Amino acid sequence: MNTSTVIAATCLLFSFSPFTATFAADPVNGRALSRQCTVCHGKTGVANDPEVPNLAGQSAFYLEKSMKDYRSGVREDRRMTLMAANLTDDQIKDIAAWYASFKIEVTVPEQE
Ligand code: HEC
Repeated sequence: MNTSTVIAATCLLFSFSPFTATFAADPVNGRALSRQCTVCHGKTGVANDPEVPNLAGQSAFYLEKSMKDYRSGVREDRRMTLMAANLTDDQIKDIAAWYASFKIEVTVPEQE
């Protein structure tokens, strides 16, 4: 019997998240803005380069926090510091909403 556990992580729309409740994010604008991210993070939000993290299905809260941390210098990376520098709070919210809306599926490997 195949006991591998398949977890379908269905990401609820960001707009219902308590973390982004103040202003509704606009994932359509986020999609447009994300074109500049795909060169590294991939069109599907899954990166090919092992140094680059996947963004697909990540929580909007975490995506937003990471981008703001790069922008403020709390978190440093030569590529991301540059990318985040010109993004406004609203743009960050929109991009976070876009990547958070991706549906991902996780298969946990069987354990002996
Ligand atoms: C030139 C390549 C490049 C581009 C373009 C790029 N990124 Fe990144 N991104 C990276 C790398 C490399 C990291 C990992 C950096 C580190 O180690 O902190 C990263 C990390 C991140 C993280 C943190 C993820 C985590 O799991 O901690 C977020 C969020 C992120 N990028 C969002 C974006 C967004 C949104 C854009 C487009 C506006 C973008 N990136 C454009 C290379 C890139």
